[in-house]
Amino acid sequence: MTEETPAKVNMEKIVSLCQRRGFIFPSSEIYGGLSSCWDYGPLGVELKRNVKEAWWRAVVQERDDVIGLDASILMHPRTWAASGHLEGFTDPLVECKGCHLRWRSDELEGDRCPSCGGELTEPRLFNLMFKTFMGPVEEDASVVYLRPETAQGMFVNFQNVVNTTRKRLPFGIAQIGKAFRNEITTGNFIFRSREFEQMEIEFFVKPGTDEEWFNYWLEERLNWYVKLGIKRENLRLREHAEGELAHYAKVCHDIDYLFPMGWAELEGVANRGDFDLVQHASFSGKSLDYFDDDTKERFIPYIIEPSAGVDRSFLAFLCDAYDEEPDKDEIRVLLHLHPALAPFKVAVLPLSRREQLVKAAKDIYADLRQRWMVSYDDAQSIGRRYRRQDEIGTPFCVTVDFQSLEDNQATIRERDTMNQIRVPISELSNTLQVKLEGEDLFVLPPGGMIWKEEKKGV
Ligand code: GAP
Repeated sequence: MTEETPAKVNMEKIVSLCQRRGFIFPSSEIYGGLSSCWDYGPLGVELKRNVKEAWWRAVVQERDDVIGLDASILMHPRTWAASGHLEGFTDPLVECKGCHLRWRSDELEGDRCPSCGGELTEPRLFNLMFKTFMGPVEEDASVVYLRPETAQGMFVNFQNVVNTTRKRLPFGIAQIGKAFRNEITTGNFIFRSREFEQMEIEFFVKPGTDEEWFNYWLEERLNWYVKLGIKRENLRLREHAEGELAHYAKVCHDIDYLFPMGWAELEGVANRGDFDLVQHASFSGKSLDYFDDDTKERFIPYIIEPSAGVDRSFLAFLCDAYDEEPDKDEIRVLLHLHPALAPFKVAVLPLSRREQLVKAAKDIYADLRQRWMVSYDDAQSIGRRYRRQDEIGTPFCVTVDFQSLEDNQATIRERDTMNQIRVPISELSNTLQVKLEGEDLFVLPPGGMIWKEEKKGV
């Protein structure tokens, strides 16, 4: 991580926004919280679902060479012997002899405790997998592990997928799910936690074509973040040095994001070679090779793995979208979230709580909710309500005023420009649809007009 920090945002502001507006709460907060475990609140769960939905859409729905899977978190314990996690998934742990805090020795700068300056113990290897027991008896034979990555569920199902889908190489399996790591050092909010979600693709290719596919996926995955609004200058690619490579990887590049605490890994793209299928074939005694009908060759495929963190993507999208603008004597906080990610796509705001207005606004609310997650707010001044929606990234507000009762029109206000148009209520839903897809606000539907053009930034 470096000292560079993206303008306008620091982690305190992001944490405060998340807690204030219900994106993220500490886990079991009424008991004082549980270290590095987090609960996604009403807005957070929507943003998180949208991140996963956007990923699934890009890597499964819009492609014909990747299919989905949802494997169980608990797997046969031999899986972890084969994968190398039992032996190799360790961090070097040291403990301070004075204050007893524990540290990863590979992350320490000196040889004293960073907290109290005390003497440290010799490093010992600490396995990061969470252990538990299957069934009622707590004995060695019933030990199982919470998976530390979703990947293994896809490797062990390789033959099932080939047999049931008749997919030919190159093809991929995609999965989203929880992973657990008993990290020694956590922190930076949801950046490093002990329970998190991954979005992983295992892309099976013919050996010899792996370099080409590695470069393809690196580019593809980098572009996904940019398409969803992350500024290109806040992303970089970083190749792992030899000593840093995971035990399974031939090559690995990180896609780093410039988080408030500096550059850090958002996603890893690895060339895993044939390591995983060879290991599982050997440990299970089942053949995991592939027969190529065209060339009549039999071989073990190589695997290219783009592995992203849901929570880290969430944090990066939030940090990148965060903005503050002068607003008379105050500050307008807004999230420039891509419409596909915004928790609410639209907010419906009646100008006042007068019965007739509320009825008209609630009818619109009920109609729009059939299509999207929509918010309804009638508390306080319209200006305050706009600000509340800006702060959570709602792309459009629909305002119903007294004139609406006469001309059957409502205004649409755009979050980023604050410009407004007025459109017939019968055109609202379709107009919002095209605006959410990126059409300029001032392209008007039949009967529409420009209502207010903010001079700011013009
Ligand atoms: N299957 C390969 C694999 O798991 P990884 O680099 O260890 O590779 C992939 O993890 C991604 O999972 C990371 O880029 C990161 O986004 C996310 N991740 C890993 N450990 C995490 C943690 N403790 N908390 C939050 N996200 C984590």
